[in-house]
Amino acid sequence: MPEIRQYDDSKDRTQVIELWKKVFGYDAPHNEPALSISKKLANNDGLFFVATDRSKVIGTVMAGYDGHRGWLYAVAVQHELQRSGLGKKLVLAAEDALAAAGCLKVNLQLLASNEATADFYKSLGYMVEPRVSMGKVLQSNIPSSS
Ligand SMILES: CC(C)(COP(=O)(O)OP(=O)(O)OC[C@H]1O[C@@H](n2cnc3c(N)ncnc32)[C@H](O)[C@@H]1OP(=O)(O)O)[C@@H](O)C(=O)NCCC(=O)NCCS
Repeated sequence: MPEIRQYDDSKDRTQVIELWKKVFGYDAPHNEPALSISKKLANNDGLFFVATDRSKVIGTVMAGYDGHRGWLYAVAVQHELQRSGLGKKLVLAAEDALAAAGCLKVNLQLLASNEATADFYKSLGYMVEPRVSMGKVLQSNIPSSS
């Protein structure tokens, strides 16, 4: 029976990095898993959760709350365990934590290439909203590769 709990850096770092590399395969420097984890821990908001089964990390969700909106990031379930209800449990756990923090609305972004995943979020009550998503990398904070 999977357990959803707060991320614990002493137990989970290597496994989460491995899971994200398999599930997301991001290669942009600002998405580098170890850096993302360290930045999230430095923020110390208690909004980073893992799903475990007998101490093995099988899923993650990272949330953020800035006082105006809640955001979901890094919703991931190990490939072989997808479609067994774990993604839903992870999102609901993050929603509970955001609600407890006073959040009124949760947003998330999907890559256009991952649009099929919108059906997962729709099944949880999310709606596609007419927005143009914009972003900018702050290069001064990106570690140099050398
Ligand atoms: C998206 C993801 C987290 C969903 O997790 P999951 O454990 O497979 O989802 P659940 O089993 O909880 O699904 C709940 C419901 O969502 C819907 N759903 C889930 N995946 C779906 C898909 N690929 N297509 C259509 N509907 C889907 C279904 O209604 C499902 O209920 P059902 O299985 O009874 O039909 C998982 O597929 C994943 O890790 N994908 C890769 C990473 C990713 O794209 N993350 C999201 C971007 S941050």
